[in-house]
This record gives sequence, C-alpha cells and structure tokens, in this order.
Amino acid sequence: MQDTPSQKTVLLIGASRGLGLAMAEELLKRGYRVIATGRAASTERLQHLANACAGSLEVETVDITIPGQIAALRGRLEGRRVDVLFVNAGVKNDDRETLADVSTEEFVRVMVTNSLSPMRVIHAFQDLVPPTGTIGVMSSGQGSITNATNANYEVYRGSKAALNMFMRTFAARSASYPRSLLLMAPGWVQTDMGGPAARLTIEESIPNLVNTIEAYEGRAGFHYLDYLGRAVPW
Ligand SMILES: NC(=O)c1ccc[n+]([C@@H]2O[C@H](COP(=O)([O-])OP(=O)(O)OC[C@H]3O[C@@H](n4cnc5c(N)ncnc54)[C@H](OP(=O)(O)O)[C@@H]3O)[C@@H](O)[C@H]2O)c1
Repeated sequence: MQDTPSQKTVLLIGASRGLGLAMAEELLKRGYRVIATGRAASTERLQHLANACAGSLEVETVDITIPGQIAALRGRLEGRRVDVLFVNAGVKNDDRETLADVSTEEFVRVMVTNSLSPMRVIHAFQDLVPPTGTIGVMSSGQGSITNATNANYEVYRGSKAALNMFMRTFAARSASYPRSLLLMAPGWVQTDMGGPAARLTIEESIPNLVNTIEAYEGRAGFHYLDYLGRAVPW
C-alpha cells in the first residue's frame, strides 16, 4: 500500500481489543493511516474495522514475544515511513498473586511481554520513524516507583517500571535524534485487563490520550504522561 505524503502513518502494536482497538478507531477518525496489529488469532475486530474504513487501516499480525514474528513484520514494512510507532500490547498476572507466590513461568511471561518485548519492537522499527517522529509505549501509573505506596499488583508494577527504565536507556542511546519518546499512563480503564470496576471508560481515556500524543509531537526527549497530559512522577 502507498503512503500519501500528507497523511501521517501510525504503527500501532497490540490493537485487537481494549485500549489498542480504541486507539486505532480514534486515530482513523482523526485522518491517520493506521497499521494495526493483533496476534494471528485475534485480528477479527480489526478486520471488521478495516472493512468499514476504505483503505486507511492495514491489519497486520505479530506476537511481540516471538522475535521471528517481529522480524517478519519488519520485513513486510520495509520502505515504509512510520510517523508514530506505539506499542500498546501488554498483559498482567492474577491480581492476588504476589512476588511470594507467583510462579517463575508467570513472572517471566509478564516481564518478557511488558518490558523486553516492547523494546524489541522499538529497536526493530525505529529506523522507519523519522528523526522528528514519535515513539511511544503504553506504560502505566503502576510503573511509577514514586507512587508505589502499597503492595498491590507488584509483579505487573515491576514490569512497567522496568519498561520505563528501558525507555530511558533507549533515550540515552538515541539522544542525537530529536524524537518524542512517550510513556503513557492511560488511567484505570474498563477493559478485559482493567475490569468492570475501573474508574474510567475507554471513551474517557483514549481520545484524551490521543490528544496528548498529538500535543507532544515534535517535543524531543522522553515524557512520562497520563492520559490528560499530566506528568507522572518516575
Ligand atoms: N486497562 C487499564 O486499566 C490499564 C491501565 C494502565 C495500563 N494499561 C496498559 O494498556 C495496555 C492495553 O491494556 P488493555 O486494558 O487494553 O488490555 P487488554 O484488553 O487485556 O488488551 C491487551 C492487548 O495486548 C495484546 N497483547 C497481549 N500480549 C501480546 C503479545 N504477546 N503480542 C502481541 N499483542 C499482545 C492483546 O492481544 P490479544 O487479543 O491477541 O491477546 C490485546 O490487544 C497494556 O499495556 C496495559 O498494561 C492498561
């Protein structure tokens, strides 16, 4: 598919449902070309959306924990310009599970999915992003060490705090590029992950979160922000 020079392209990783799917819908409404990914078995809602939006949405597949799938997607997108690269994909473990009782396998699953894999995606695709483009990840307010005043969700929290650290080291390594590096905290939102008791609806979070991404376009350096654009303490 050819990019129209005036139309900005967003590569959105992990958009099969929840916040990612809502981001894809919001970006399409705002006129972006969107390349949105699900895992092989989870693209049905994206395919449905693509059928309804006349060529502005391309549906791709990648499991971010499988390096061969990241490399294959990178190959399929060779030569494309990506103005905004955003990794939304993430998982959590059972809320009641603490570091004292989580299995090693489950701990590794959460850490590899939430901390290592988004950075692998960013390393693989960063050269498609122009020097003034945006690279973002879906972090969480739970990743703030400053705000960690209770012991809830500690495995998940550790994974997002590690992601924040890796974005900072990535920023240090690529300091010569004036890119905007965003770590977004969407708030506690009603999705499969957030659950029905969450404070915010998707409609209260995602349009504001996209406003914040747009407001930080061209603002070099790394920014840890909530969905309303307020700085989150590290
Ligand atoms: N909801 C909240 O309250 C909240 C708060 C703070 C931060 N977040 C963060 O926001 C992001 C989205 O959360 P959500 O609430 O929308 O969760 P969700 O409804 O559970 O959706 C998770 C998304 O991540 C994808 N994903 C999971 N593992 C993947 C993998 N290995 N490879 C590729 N995609 C994968 C899922 O794809 P499949 O459909 O294929 O499983 C799905 O699209 C996550 O990073 C989460 O940590 C959420």
